[in-house]
Formats: sequence, structure tokens, C-alpha cells
Amino acid sequence: MLKINEVYNMDCIDAIKLLDDKSIDLVVMDPPYLLNLTKVKKTTSFNNYTNELIGLKDGFDLNVLDLLIPKMKKINMYIYCSKRQVKDLIEYFINKDCNYEILTWHKQNPSPLINNNYLPDTEYIVFAREKGVRLYGNYYTKRKYYLSGVNQVDKKKYKHPTIKPLPFIENHIINSSKEGELILDCYCGSGTTLVGAIKNKRNFIGFEIDKNYYEIAKQRVEEALAEEFKIETESSE
Ligand SMILES: C[S@@+](CC[C@H](N)C(=O)[O-])C[C@H]1O[C@@H](n2cnc3c(N)ncnc32)[C@H](O)[C@@H]1O
Repeated sequence: MLKINEVYNMDCIDAIKLLDDKSIDLVVMDPPYLLNLTKVKKTTSFNNYTNELIGLKDGFDLNVLDLLIPKMKKINMYIYCSKRQVKDLIEYFINKDCNYEILTWHKQNPSPLINNNYLPDTEYIVFAREKGVRLYGNYYTKRKYYLSGVNQVDKKKYKHPTIKPLPFIENHIINSSKEGELILDCYCGSGTTLVGAIKNKRNFIGFEIDKNYYEIAKQRVEEALAEEFKIETESSE
């Protein structure tokens, strides 16, 4: 049995099995994936960022979704993924009779790895929801594309090579959950989804396999909880 509002240093394949059935309202997850790079080896011709990315455990396959779905009240998921994964994910969710959207993140300063390819300036987020699952939010939170630079400041601050921008994650949370609901991120990295949940008064559970990233996520969660407590105390005075 797992506690809510905790981050666990665990492999999500083991951890998901410990969740109660039909307990999760929303999944926001960002499994490891590479952008335009197919067969890559560590090499000095790539920059440090790419080498770190190659070093991340490539632990995502569609079986994770089979484990997750019984744990959800209804299917309601945002999955960051590469172009190559979009097709499989869409097919998976069509077979589950879900509605879906493909959201995109366009980076204004992509790394200059071009060769014979277009720039690696677009990332994809597949959003799938079972029929009947509501979408909240407003005109500004419901755009299907996000524009920003690569998140260098947060990357340095929280020491994670693929940290996602907090405002994107907050949008997913605002659009697809209500206060007090339970959000799961099973590849939580530096904890961006968990911070987004705290800031928007949702409950959360996070899993992260890497000890260093887990420690970073735990620290971010503690800071975000302290900040929310401060805001609430000040507003009640
Ligand atoms: C793309 S990163 C997530 C970054 C995160 N969204 C953020 O903003 O910091 C994916 C993370 O999944 C972790 N990971 C890989 N395999 C895992 C597994 N089987 N269980 C849990 N975490 C895993 C990696 O260590 C990595 O930190």
C-alpha cells in the first residue's frame, strides 16, 4: 500500500502494482525517449546533454499502460513521447475506445544536430481520455501547442537533462483534474509534475528509479509544500 503525496525511489513497473485499483484520476508522465536520434552511442561528437539523455534508462513500453489502466478511475493521461512513439500510442488508445489529442512543444532554440534531418525542435504529448472524462481549463490553457525555449535555467537548477517546463505541466493538470484529485507521474525525474500538483492543490504520487533524481524530486516537493503552506497561512491572516 502506497501513501499519497509521496515520491518513491522505485522502478515504476514494481511500484504501479502497489497502487490501489481505480485510485488515480490523472496520469502525467514523461518516460525516457530520444528525439530524432535513432541508433546512437555515447560519443564526443554529441554534447553533454545528449550523452546524459542516452544514459537515462529507456524503460518505457506499452505494457506500462496495461499496468496503469486498472489503477485509474478512468483513462485520463498525458504522455510525453517521441515522434516514433506517437503512432503506437494513438493506436493503443483507439483500441481502448478513447478520445485523443496530439499536443506539441515547439522549442525556439533547439540543439543544432541537423545533418540530413529537420531540427529536433518539436516534442509530442499524447493526451488520451476515456469517453465521458471532462476537460476543464479555459481559452488560454486549452491550446494544443506550447512554445518555449529549452529550459536551461531549470535544467541547471534541478540538474535534470530533460526537465519539462512547469507551466506546461500545470496546464495539463488544470485542464484534466479538479482540486483534491490524485495525479500520478511514474517517471517523475526532478518532480515537475509533483510540484505542479502541489501548486494547484491536487494530491500526487511520484516514482523515480534513479537515486539522484529521486533526491532532487523529494527536495523540490518539500520546497513546494513549504511555499504553499506559507501562501495559505498569509492569506488566512
Ligand atoms: C524524461 S525524464 C522525466 C523528467 C521530468 N518530467 C522532469 O520534468 O524532471 C524520465 C525519468 O524516468 C526515470 N526512469 C526511467 N525508467 C524508470 C522506471 N522504470 N521507473 C521509474 N523511473 C524511471 C529516469 O531516471 C528519468 O529521470
